[in-house]
Amino acid sequence: MEEKERDKLLGIKTVGIREWVNNNHYNRYEATPYKALDVLFENYKFIDINRVVDFGCGRGRVSFYLHNRFNLPVIGIEANNKTYEEALENKISYGLKTKHTTAPVEFKCSLAQHYKIDKKDNCFYFFNPFSVHIFRKVVDNILHSAEKDCRKLDLILYYPTREYEEFLENSTPFKIVDEIRIPGEIDKREKFIIYRLREEFLYKDI
Ligand SMILES: C[S@@+](CC[C@H](N)C(=O)[O-])C[C@H]1O[C@@H](n2cnc3c(N)ncnc32)[C@H](O)[C@@H]1O
Repeated sequence: MEEKERDKLLGIKTVGIREWVNNNHYNRYEATPYKALDVLFENYKFIDINRVVDFGCGRGRVSFYLHNRFNLPVIGIEANNKTYEEALENKISYGLKTKHTTAPVEFKCSLAQHYKIDKKDNCFYFFNPFSVHIFRKVVDNILHSAEKDCRKLDLILYYPTREYEEFLENSTPFKIVDEIRIPGEIDKREKFIIYRLREEFLYKDI
């Protein structure tokens, strides 16, 4: 099914691209393909996940998909004002179409690096929203939150860059727990990597 038809089923509009002008750190808007989301969520089950944060949520496709399929609380953080407004419009039209879900869907217009991690946030989704420089700050905020409120934490990376991977591998207590490829894609980056916080980090002070 075409991306636009999948949007229609959810009552949203998320197809398209929006570039930033003169910004080397913030990446353009484009949504994770539905085909990739289908593959991810056949493999990744939300065990013990209380709320998912989509950093750089764009028009909200991932949030609506998750909410609709798993009835999970989700929050999307978006820096671009116009794109954020579109996510809010989608929230209205999605709400009209989808009445069976009870968990909240929220959007915040904010820089990801300024978002205060809530203790219920324990799964973080990234589809190349920004430079590794900003990614480092966001991961640092996540780790501070885990130090304060000890809990299981997962990161999901779609179409990851080498820089993101190297940073997580060499400079953080996250370990890879799964790598999910998209069948039929020859591009090596067409995959999801799931990282989980090592238990030693959680219990280091005990
Ligand atoms: C590749 S899109 C991903 C959209 C969505 N997560 C998805 O997978 O469908 C990246 C988004 O991150 C946003 N973004 C870029 N820098 C950001 C920042 N510092 N804080 C929050 N959002 C940012 C962009 O405006 C864009 O909408």
